[in-house]
Amino acid sequence: MSIGQNIPHDSSRGHVTGGSVFIDDRGFTQKEVLVLPVGVPAAAGNLKKIDIESALKAPGVLAAFTAKDLHHNMWGTIIPEQPILVDQKIGYYDEPAVILVGTSMDALLRAKPLVKFEIEKAPAILTIDEAIQKKNFIYKANAFVCGAVDEALQKAPHRLSGAFECGGQEHFYMESQACIAYPLEDGQMEIHSSSQHPSETQHVVAEALGLQLHEVVCIVKRMGGGFGGKESQAAPFAAMAALVAQKMQRPARLCLSKDDDMMMTGKRHPFKNFYEIGFDNDGRILGLKAQLYADGGAYADLSSSILDRAMFHIDSAYYLPNAHIEGYVCRTNIHSNTAFRGFGGPQGSMTIESIIEDMAKHLNMDALKIREINCYGKEKNNVTHYGQKLDHNPLPDLFARLKSDADYVKRREEIEKFNASQTGKIRGLSMTATKFGIAFTARFLNQGNALVNVHKDGTVQVSTGATEMGQGVNTKIQQIVAHAFGIPAPDVKVMATSTEKNHNTSPTAASSGSDINGSAALKGSVEIKKRLAWLYQNILAETPMNDIAECPHLDESKLRLEDFDFNNRQVKHLPSGKSIEWQDLVKRAYLNRMSLGEYAHFKTEGLGFDKARSMGTPFNYFTNGVAVSEVQIDTWTGEYKVLRTDILMDLGRPLNPGIDRGQVTGAFVQGMGWVTSEKLFYNKDGKLLSHSPTTYKIPNIQDTPRIFNVDFIENHENRQNVHRSKAVGEPPFLLGISVWTALKDALKYKGTAIPNIKSPATPEELLMELARYE
Ligand code: MTE
Ligand code: HPA
Ligand code: MOS
Repeated sequence: MSIGQNIPHDSSRGHVTGGSVFIDDRGFTQKEVLVLPVGVPAAAGNLKKIDIESALKAPGVLAAFTAKDLHHNMWGTIIPEQPILVDQKIGYYDEPAVILVGTSMDALLRAKPLVKFEIEKAPAILTIDEAIQKKNFIYKANAFVCGAVDEALQKAPHRLSGAFECGGQEHFYMESQACIAYPLEDGQMEIHSSSQHPSETQHVVAEALGLQLHEVVCIVKRMGGGFGGKESQAAPFAAMAALVAQKMQRPARLCLSKDDDMMMTGKRHPFKNFYEIGFDNDGRILGLKAQLYADGGAYADLSSSILDRAMFHIDSAYYLPNAHIEGYVCRTNIHSNTAFRGFGGPQGSMTIESIIEDMAKHLNMDALKIREINCYGKEKNNVTHYGQKLDHNPLPDLFARLKSDADYVKRREEIEKFNASQTGKIRGLSMTATKFGIAFTARFLNQGNALVNVHKDGTVQVSTGATEMGQGVNTKIQQIVAHAFGIPAPDVKVMATSTEKNHNTSPTAASSGSDINGSAALKGSVEIKKRLAWLYQNILAETPMNDIAECPHLDESKLRLEDFDFNNRQVKHLPSGKSIEWQDLVKRAYLNRMSLGEYAHFKTEGLGFDKARSMGTPFNYFTNGVAVSEVQIDTWTGEYKVLRTDILMDLGRPLNPGIDRGQVTGAFVQGMGWVTSEKLFYNKDGKLLSHSPTTYKIPNIQDTPRIFNVDFIENHENRQNVHRSKAVGEPPFLLGISVWTALKDALKYKGTAIPNIKSPATPEELLMELARYE
């Protein structure tokens, strides 16, 4: 049966043969034009005038559009405050202000420098510190309060305070933001977009063009990666393409270059988090006070939700008896920062993982001991700082098992010997955890719908709101439906996502794509199964069915669905042992005029969070894991290698362990890149300088851990989710943090003070820290 099997990813062949079609692979249609957005050359100020005359005269240029051409020049998922094209006030350097239209990209690139901007520049705010100083905030969160933190801190035998800082991160999806808009009859618009959120793309396009929602369809076949970067920010680029399509009544293609994509779109939020922690002689945490500052960039985007998730995840895997957590989103003059795998969770959890390393140095203890002593318990100490109780908490077992599987104690001894031997190299070892809350923290997003169509030959097409970005959601939904009907996975096709088939969908995000859409698809499949079982029950009971009499209407009180086993392309009636071919039963259902299609809606039950008190149950369940990484630093250059990483995760009963393994390794390496080599550089005017792979360093194969072990525990208890699986997409990203804490651990062997490094720990960052020890 399909569930739990390593069915290949539905695009695996296409991706290696080139058969997979991405937006820019779509064939050119008649009269199709190309669209190039042009950004402003200043980070702040007023745009007084745009001169497009000479650009318009350039060969191959057909048209140019600006803010005034849009019916509605404003968008924003949570707060609609971001212009699609700069009208007056400039938010950030390279913010799109003009769109050039032409017949070839060459022509557009030649015309681009001819666009002239007259700008009245204003001083830009480029750092979190400046924003704090000027109190330039987009959002202030309600504080999370539990226990009596001031008292706890006062009484604590030890206290540490400081600021933890981490940088942003470029999504570096292989396919940049891309969209083709096709004008249809009657002013309607068909949008093909590389979007994680087709419904929002539909809505933003409709508003921008002055259309109603039913006049726009957004279709997403797949993305060449999204990682959160296409949750909200695919929409404004779709609106630009759609504007051209509407104005010129020609299909319009907008596919950003890597450089433009990196300069124009938002990234992971940098954070600066101030803290004070109190603990006892054993390293037991008594109280944590923290103020989180996220760099939201120029506009609100999803920042408030991201900050909330950072505040939810400041505990990582550790019990906080007393806590007071505040949070602010700063408004600065950089691209508007947005969702990125982990959605603030990594920036929260990394804070306490860093603090624990500091506590270890302060107490002269192994940091793992501190983690073990503070780890959430199974029976007690298992309620988070926002009041959610952990069910079937596997964290203590995960720590214990990985400590033994990865030979932690012995390797610690070896490292101590190695570091004492003065080789010019130092090694470090660290184990960190992830306890990632699964659900959108905005409750209304935890719903989805699915359309299941069984065709006369017994094959099935499924459509949901889930979008495929490489994570394998299509394959998981395919497995769920194939399993339900007892047919082979290839007999089920998951169709392109379209707002025409699935309406008002949530983004494929929060790692819950297969949870929500898989559950909806299962619900729809079960309804069809009921009708088929009813038909078979009637066939067995010899209910007359002929040209005069049809199968009677389904009477659920008389149906015993549990008596029927759908397996192996057969439907078996268990009590009688009789069976019928799946295809035969489907055909007979059709002849009996029974519906072979179903639309189903699903919502996650049990979620409720009181925002005013910051208490409740925001999450359906948690996905947990631990990782231990060992690193070696060259003390002369600051360069380092990850020698070994061991990961142990609880993914419930994985729907597809092979796909999940890919998610775990990929997310870990992406997390590792964030904390090590991926550094964003801006010049003093706020222009992003690291806007291509030549200046922005993502991990390559040689940067991955030289020994890399990934394992899962067995957990059959996650009844809250489809087939007792657990979401996997984001949680392992946080395990990359173990590389950074391992680097910090290594530094402890060199210096006498607590190491003081920021993230990313580039070789330069480490070398400067090492220089302080001399
Ligand atoms: N995996 C691949 N290959 N490409 C991606 O863009 N995005 C990640 C994760 N894994 C991503 C990925 C992010 S940010 C999320 S939220 C989840 O996939 C979304 O998909 P899911 O909910 O179906 O897991
Ligand atoms: N996670 C990811 N994406 C989101 C969320 C969330 O909690 N809320 C809105 N978009
Ligand atoms: Mo993922 S950051 O929730 O798209």
